[in-house]
Amino acid sequence: MYLQKATMIDRFFSVNLELEMPVKRIPSGSTEVIEKSRNVHFVKHQLKSTKDKDSFWVLLSFDRHHDNPKSDNRMEKRHLELARERKAIVIDGGDLFCAMQGKYDPRSDKRDLKPEHQTGDYLDKLVKTAADFYGPYADLFAIMAPGNHETAISKRHETNLTERLVTMLNDRHGTNIRVGGFSGWVKFQLGLNNQNMAKNMWYHHGYGGDAPVTKGVIQTNRQAVYLPDAHIVATGHTHNEWQFPIPRLRLSPKGKVYHDEQMHIKVPSYKEEYVDGYGGWHIERGGPPKPIGAVWLRFSADKTTKNKMTVCEPTVEVLRAK
Ligand SMILES: [Fe+2]
Ligand SMILES: [Fe+2]
Repeated sequence: MYLQKATMIDRFFSVNLELEMPVKRIPSGSTEVIEKSRNVHFVKHQLKSTKDKDSFWVLLSFDRHHDNPKSDNRMEKRHLELARERKAIVIDGGDLFCAMQGKYDPRSDKRDLKPEHQTGDYLDKLVKTAADFYGPYADLFAIMAPGNHETAISKRHETNLTERLVTMLNDRHGTNIRVGGFSGWVKFQLGLNNQNMAKNMWYHHGYGGDAPVTKGVIQTNRQAVYLPDAHIVATGHTHNEWQFPIPRLRLSPKGKVYHDEQMHIKVPSYKEEYVDGYGGWHIERGGPPKPIGAVWLRFSADKTTKNKMTVCEPTVEVLRAK
């Protein structure tokens, strides 16, 4: 039931952000990324106004599997172009590389190898071709984190593809993309006029099997127990897609009862390996067709009246990137 709802509704929640301690003001409309530790990043954005056109956008992607021929590179490009138009930042949660066609990978299948990667320097070529593709958008990427496809290469071949790609992009374009963790935190700090608000996102590449019936939604309740500070929980890996809000009852420091929401987002992949169902590993093991795309986070603010005073109330929406 909730799965159907999640896939049908693009724009579904709008919650108050928590008021935070004052943060150093940055120029109106600008964004700053600060590395607090290896897997904790602050993303500051100063909203220009409450107008829709001044929203702050984040493209959240997982499981690009960019080098796999079944990954929709055209859709990736379309979303990155839109990110440019929206002055968005991009946060990637891993499996940007598929990287399964190496000589020693028992899963390798020559049909899944693009011609540009059939050159004997497979891992180097993966990094170079990805850097060519993402280069025009390097300034948009804030964080790239590894997934299990990257850590598998680290274990077998002692090279970290995420770090190689980030280094190449930063060297080529003078950008400052950060490498995230397999899991980590992003604190979005939004300013408007003299107000500052924050929203915490916990990300994890994802784990576990396909869960063909529950789609892994059960994990949300386990994670909710140990993530009391997260407003958004973003995961990928299973190539499923859903949004599952958990409303919570809170008590403010002044004793006021209020509700907030922990929003769990399962971000899909750009790879769809079912195709016509003719055959292959995914079909033989009974894998279903999968949704493709990514997710947009849109931060904005509304003017409202509280205690006879006009205040700006920030909102965040989660939209499907299709
Ligand atoms: Fe994946
Ligand atoms: Fe994965």
